[in-house]
Amino acid sequence: MSRLDSFIRRLEAQRLVLNWAAAAIADRDGPVLELGLGNGRTYDHLREILPGRSIYAFERKISANPRSMPPPEALVLGEMETTLPDFAARHGRNAVLVHVDATTGVPELDRVHLSWLPGHVAMLAADDALVLSGWELEHLALRAVPLPDAVPDGRYFAYRRNVAID
Ligand SMILES: C[S@@+](CC[C@H](N)C(=O)[O-])C[C@H]1O[C@@H](n2cnc3c(N)ncnc32)[C@H](O)[C@@H]1O
Repeated sequence: MSRLDSFIRRLEAQRLVLNWAAAAIADRDGPVLELGLGNGRTYDHLREILPGRSIYAFERKISANPRSMPPPEALVLGEMETTLPDFAARHGRNAVLVHVDATTGVPELDRVHLSWLPGHVAMLAADDALVLSGWELEHLALRAVPLPDAVPDGRYFAYRRNVAID
């Protein structure tokens, strides 16, 4: 498969998964977290399919298309290793959807460089929240759930946040 075909398939899978997740959380209140604003494509899609929903975007450097820029109060700038725990301390564990799109483009590297990320996601996701990721997340609080059949195997991964037992 050419890199162009692979890129197109990744974006198609992304759109399909985001649309599926938006429908799945429609009847739940709570914010959505976009981890990795980048160009802002998926952020822009999320705000289009989830009108009225609070959507926070996390990013270390601003490189989004101006049309996809979140309002200042919804953009959390800095290294997620520290901004995510800070955000959890301020807002609590109330996100109903977390979209993990912080990637180096090499899943093997992501697992090493972002090894702290699944724990941070678990710290932010409400009970039974949906978590989507372009690479596999391993954490005791996250259980894998099936994606729509049309999503090619291994392109995307979905999880539910286990109910916390206090
Ligand atoms: C694949 S891009 C995101 C693409 C974006 N969702 C879109 O649709 O345009 C990944 C982004 O995550 C950001 N990122 C990766 N690791 C990060 C970290 N530890 N803290 C903050 N931002 C990070 C990168 O700067 C990059 O812009």
